[in-house]
Amino acid sequence: MTKPQVLIAGNWKMNGLGASLAEANALAGSLGQTTARVAICPPATLVQRLAEVLTDSGVLVGAQDCHAEASGAFTGDTSAEQLADAGATLVILGHSERRSGHGESDALVAAKVQAALRAGLEPIVCVGETLDQRKAGDALAIVTGQVRGSLPRELAGNAFAVAYEPVWAIGTGLTPTTPEIEEVHRAIRAALLEMFGDAGRGVAILYGGSVKPSNAAEILHADEVGGALVGGASLKADDFLGIIRAA
Ligand code: PGA
Repeated sequence: MTKPQVLIAGNWKMNGLGASLAEANALAGSLGQTTARVAICPPATLVQRLAEVLTDSGVLVGAQDCHAEASGAFTGDTSAEQLADAGATLVILGHSERRSGHGESDALVAAKVQAALRAGLEPIVCVGETLDQRKAGDALAIVTGQVRGSLPRELAGNAFAVAYEPVWAIGTGLTPTTPEIEEVHRAIRAALLEMFGDAGRGVAILYGGSVKPSNAAEILHADEVGGALVGGASLKADDFLGIIRAA
């Protein structure tokens, strides 16, 4: 099983209006040749328009969450099928802002992963410890527990990525040291190999949490880091390009 292609995904979170499409257009226009797969995950309101703007640009469009059901009486929710219909090809699932802000459990994340597979979306499944959990020496146990609980067996044979995002590093400017990132990524790889056999080697393990142009090269070249999930720095084309170029 060969190494997975590097994936650099931008998570716009609840940011972006129609005017932000210009930023994505600028990114696509300057991207040129890159060995990495590049994706932007805008809010649901922009998925369709972004997919139109980025047609044939080589930049993929992802969503930030989906409901586990395909349709029904779920006011305010969006299904994986609807996101795929709007032009998304990937979906972020289990982001810590969903786990903590919306009470999402590993079991719910796993159900959403199954929904993504049903709709043909490639899931990017997020895991990560809080600062208290790290200080207590529990980071590896928490993260590998989330990996085991959030990745259903049905993923075998399908494309998916895991994103390690320490909660305390998201939006804070703080990042773990490179050895700390490598330690967690190796533990995630070991869990993937245990769960999916040799195919676990082909899963990209992204790092996320305060990735910016100035730290991207070191992070992206760390052992077992197969890409980045980028929040704040993905909102500006120049910053996001700086990270992509570091891959
Ligand atoms: P950040 O967010 O890059 O702004 O820290 C990363 C994320 O939450 O995916």
